Amino acid sequence: MNILFARIRRYSGRAQFRLIPSPKQADLIALVESAVYRERLDFFGTTEPWKNGLTNGGALALMELLIGATRPQNVVEIGSNRGWTAYVMAQAMEENPTGLVHTIGPFDSWRFMPVYESWPSAIRQKVKFYPINSAAFFQDAIAKDQRFELIFVDGNHDYEFALFDIQCAARVVTSGGHIVIDNVDLPDVRRATDDFLSSHLNWTDCRDARRTDILNGSIIAVLVAP
Ligand SMILES: C[S@@+](CC[C@H](N)C(=O)[O-])C[C@H]1O[C@@H](n2cnc3c(N)ncnc32)[C@H](O)[C@@H]1O
Repeated sequence: MNILFARIRRYSGRAQFRLIPSPKQADLIALVESAVYRERLDFFGTTEPWKNGLTNGGALALMELLIGATRPQNVVEIGSNRGWTAYVMAQAMEENPTGLVHTIGPFDSWRFMPVYESWPSAIRQKVKFYPINSAAFFQDAIAKDQRFELIFVDGNHDYEFALFDIQCAARVVTSGGHIVIDNVDLPDVRRATDDFLSSHLNWTDCRDARRTDILNGSIIAVLVAP
């Protein structure tokens, strides 16, 4: 496991990115066309545990570099599973000492906790696990008026749940912040994304960007908040 951590550190070339306050489509395209993106895509596609994980390498590379470029204080992942995406996000936050990844998985304690306990303390300190569903998480966040710069929607992929998660994410994301939706290749998730966008015309849908394919063959959607 130590070798794995060392390899990730060696690959952490994120300092190559200038800070971008609120990356828009053009910035995201530049990001996914960069050499470091390709390097990270290759890394996640060939390295355990990510190469067989539930989130594809393109989504991981994009979120990792986005975090490196924006230095968010608070990131959310809806759907923890074993925690390896939260790990990538937390490591990408190494330059913001107070940055936190909130990861939510109502059914995931048994698979998340053993993995979490194997991580270095510097990563563990940056990850807060919530063994609750997204409704409970968002209700609490809205009550506390919390804001998050990046929200990764990867929970229940049925239409009603996906739409609920996107709508709630939109309430708590910062202005200029990002919602990344996984598995828009699934009809329910695609329809939820399209329905959200049809009633939120001031949002930017990065699927429509030039060379949409490089955003992971449309497996993820990246939405930028107005
Ligand atoms: C596709 S997996 C997530 C994969 C994870 N993001 C990763 O990269 O490994 C879907 C996750 O959503 C969680 N989930 C299911 N219903 C949920 C809900 N209502 N709220 C939050 N998470 C939920 C499941 O426990 C499961 O871990």
